[in-house]
Amino acid sequence: MGNPLFARKPLDVLLREAQDTGEHALKRVLGPVNLILLGIGAIIGAGIFVLTGAAAAQYAGPAIVLSYVLAGIACAFAGLCYAEFASLIPIAGSAYTYGYATLGELFAWIIGWDLILEYAFGAATVASGWSSTLVAFLQDYGIKLPPQICDTPGRIWILYKDNWQPLAAVQKTLTDAGIDWHTLPNATASFNLLAFLAIAFVTTILIIGIKESARFNSIVVLIKLVAVVTFIIVAAGYVFKNPTVASNNWHPIIPPNGGSFGEYGWSGIARAAGVVFFAYIGFDAVSTAAQEARNPQRDMPIGILGSLAICTVLYILVSGLLTGVVHYSRLNIGAPVSLAIRETGVAWGSRMVNAGALAGLSTVMLVMLLGQSRVFYSMSRDGLLWKWAGEVHPKFRTPWKSTAIVGLCVAIFASVIPIGILGQLVSIGTLLAFVIVCAGVWMLRVRHPELPRPFRTPWVPFVPIMGIVVSVLLMASLPPDTWIRLVVWLVIGMVIYFTYGVKHSRVRNPNS
Ligand code: ALA
Repeated sequence: MGNPLFARKPLDVLLREAQDTGEHALKRVLGPVNLILLGIGAIIGAGIFVLTGAAAAQYAGPAIVLSYVLAGIACAFAGLCYAEFASLIPIAGSAYTYGYATLGELFAWIIGWDLILEYAFGAATVASGWSSTLVAFLQDYGIKLPPQICDTPGRIWILYKDNWQPLAAVQKTLTDAGIDWHTLPNATASFNLLAFLAIAFVTTILIIGIKESARFNSIVVLIKLVAVVTFIIVAAGYVFKNPTVASNNWHPIIPPNGGSFGEYGWSGIARAAGVVFFAYIGFDAVSTAAQEARNPQRDMPIGILGSLAICTVLYILVSGLLTGVVHYSRLNIGAPVSLAIRETGVAWGSRMVNAGALAGLSTVMLVMLLGQSRVFYSMSRDGLLWKWAGEVHPKFRTPWKSTAIVGLCVAIFASVIPIGILGQLVSIGTLLAFVIVCAGVWMLRVRHPELPRPFRTPWVPFVPIMGIVVSVLLMASLPPDTWIRLVVWLVIGMVIYFTYGVKHSRVRNPNS
């Protein structure tokens, strides 16, 4: 064996592990529909319901629909590579395990550590979005929660137009109106209890069982799909009845560039694609349920690619209609989709969309946490993390310790740390995983062309290369601060690996 840092986990060992049915194994109960719904559960969330508005208003205008097409194509390349790996090596570790099989232990560790950015930080980011959505939803019904428990410590909220809102969200409106916020009733938040409870709730479901989690996910995904489809029908009806309004709003489809990169024009479409990429994150989480799928060889590609395809179509329709109903310049707000449906005059629509957003965000948290605990489970079984993280509950057959600890950390994180900047860290972490998965598929085709691949990525190496190129370009479009945070995060990971992982790795120390 060469340098042990690059020791690869043998494929026959991986395939044997994938077939493990002993008492330490996870429970195989998920079919193709569950897997597609898991994917949709993780994908549709803050991206479409919240970020689309700001991205259209600031960068792309009505061409936001092209940004969605672009980001969708980028994800399709990676999705096709994930599908090959997930059917060939159906192990809960997902990209981490694929890295182990192809690029060796050091890369596997880096990718496993990196996936924390996607799944754990992703869940925390979405939890904070969920708490703001809940506050807005309840205020629609006249229920006002004390702001002290609705945000991270130190954030100021004010009572404006009879609603509590974060100062940051309305400061510009107030300044434009010449109002000094000090003159309004205000309060300082001390702990985001709502985010904490949301994470605690989904963590409990995840511990109780995969079947229960899938059932909760399926019901809630149906609620959010109904909301999204209702929006599409109502908005399309409005556009057909008011073609002049819509065509004025859509004109020009690509607003001329304002003089700097990203300010409308083609560069604006690209920048907006980088932002709305967040909306697609999650389809890869399906692959972490590989050891809980009844027939992973067949159903993993169906789950990954099916959920991605459905969401891409929905996103294109929603973003196109959104800018037809409301002029893009008015969309830089927290709940653009619900503003648009209110604009159509369908009074109940806005509440329905808000309920859909709430539902949507809760399943994103669920599937992200599911992914995180499964990656830890795989890393622990390989000896790279502490043994407790791989323990399966004798009755629930879930990796309950890693689920509980991850849930607790994410809950604390979401309730005390301002999460704004972390969204970009989630995107860069996910893109790095995409790069490694695409490279891995190509590498394994060269090294082991003979393996029986239940699903084959088409046009290798074109598709993996495009996946790498597009992911790197999207990473490059993120600000330097995000890169620095990524590097710091990876350095912390290296310290843990060299102080713990190298000593306990089962691939390096087969006799331990
Ligand atoms: N795709 C997920 C969302 O938009 C992360 O919330």
